[in-house]
Amino acid sequence: MRILVLYCHPNPESYVGALHRAVVETLTAAGHEVDDCDLYAEGFDPVLSRSERAGYHDLAGNTRPVAAHVARLRAAEALVLVFPVWNFGLPAMLKGYFDRVFLPGVSFGLVDGKARGMLTNIRKVAVVTSYGATRLKAFLLGNPPRKFCTRSLRGITRSRGAVRYLAHYDMNRSTPESRAAFLARVRGAMTSL
Ligand SMILES: Cc1cc2nc3c(=O)[nH]c(=O)nc-3n(C[C@H](O)[C@H](O)[C@H](O)COP(=O)(O)O)c2cc1C
Repeated sequence: MRILVLYCHPNPESYVGALHRAVVETLTAAGHEVDDCDLYAEGFDPVLSRSERAGYHDLAGNTRPVAAHVARLRAAEALVLVFPVWNFGLPAMLKGYFDRVFLPGVSFGLVDGKARGMLTNIRKVAVVTSYGATRLKAFLLGNPPRKFCTRSLRGITRSRGAVRYLAHYDMNRSTPESRAAFLARVRGAMTSL
């Protein structure tokens, strides 16, 4: 498959950076064609400008400012996100990617005012992430990043099966063993994606 990896972390030496390397290495070794989009390294601008907002529904021109990213997204058959949870959401850079690239006419169309998913080229979605908080605390707070990925992203792609949501919770008390075990779990999931 052609797989778009969306990776968002400022520091390649971080644990999430290690997860990213494991994802790309494993997918490549499994024979997939990987488009590794490192949003920080590519200097992605996450800010939806005034003119982009004004032209948001103009299907003839709304993709122009992010045409290369739209082409990469449309070429993908699977999507893998790798990011840390910040403020119980996505890091701003990744949130901005969705604001600017998941446009009307790209990821969804409006039919009688209701959004319909359009990324029918994407058959599988997987998420690799980590939280400082425990799973229970994330649950009690409604776990917004999990809901966005497993419900919203699922709805706008053709992902038939559930979105694979792989998370290392409780990073604030993680150990070398817990981090190694999660890396192994991620490698296993990517091998069988
Ligand atoms: C700006 C910032 C905000 C964070 N907010 C949260 C949060 O709301 N919930 C949470 O569970 N962890 C939060 N964390 C902890 C990160 O999820 C944790 O640092 C990360 O998962 C560890 O990966 P890393 O060492 O590769 O950055 C935050 C960390 C940073 C730097």
